[in-house]
Amino acid sequence: MKTLFRTVMLLSAFFIGGQTFASGGGVHLEPAHNDLSNQGSLQNGMKLFVNYCLSCHSAEYMRFNRAGKDLGISDEQLKQNLMFTADKVGETMKVAMTKDDAKKWFGIAIPDLSVVARSRGVDWLYTYMTSFYRDDKRTWGVNNLVFKDVGMPHVMADMEGGVKDAVYKTEIGEDGKPHQVIDKLVSNCGALPKADCEKKAQEYNRNVRDLVNYLEYMGEPAKLVRYSLGVKVILFLLFFTFIAYFLKKEYWRDVH
Ligand code: HEC
Repeated sequence: MKTLFRTVMLLSAFFIGGQTFASGGGVHLEPAHNDLSNQGSLQNGMKLFVNYCLSCHSAEYMRFNRAGKDLGISDEQLKQNLMFTADKVGETMKVAMTKDDAKKWFGIAIPDLSVVARSRGVDWLYTYMTSFYRDDKRTWGVNNLVFKDVGMPHVMADMEGGVKDAVYKTEIGEDGKPHQVIDKLVSNCGALPKADCEKKAQEYNRNVRDLVNYLEYMGEPAKLVRYSLGVKVILFLLFFTFIAYFLKKEYWRDVH
């Protein structure tokens, strides 16, 4: 009985696990709380990814029609609403920008995002997308709490109401001298009333959660299959445990 129980636990850990943990360089990471079983969230995430990210980043391991099939989006819907960089639904998510242009404008090759959720982890991605702040010393006018001196502009700033401001505090460093460090980030929606600004911030965070959800799906599309298979396997094992228990009782009755 104990062994069976352990097997069930191990198997469920295998099916449900696989989460990557990545460090944010000492900065507190906000939990993404994304949910792979939420199809609406995944669809919104894909829409955001295609509209806001695919102009610079590719996702070379992801085919449009595979995502469509997994997320319940028809070929027709894909073609009409989501395919700006491809003609056929069987193509991978190529980037709109050429490598030469990327080098010219950004000075680096922009990374492919197919498996970024595995290398960085979902909490890091959520924190990254929600912690851009104004820094006039940087080329794009922004910096990031978990990616110091980031070379990416805050492409979803409008959705957030505007780029956040950093509030600083003074801390005594290891050298015994006072240093200015970031205490927190605050929303900055310009002339928008405070209540509307807060609503925008919440909406933005929800959208980022969906986007991160999609990035996690893209990092390992098979996870969606594993989830539904995992539940079936566990149900079968529970059923099997039940049968085995009564079989054992039946056999031992003759022995005693
Ligand atoms: C205008 C071009 C541009 C757009 C649009 C853009 N990015 Fe980026 N992104 C970059 C550049 C450039 C870097 C590299 C930054 C660096 O190395 O300093 C980067 C880096 C990243 C990284 C860090 C990758 C790593 O592991 O180092 C992530 C994650 C990321 N982008 C996510 C996104 C997401 C999600 C979107 C869509 C909401 C997006 N990006 C849209 C230009 C862009």
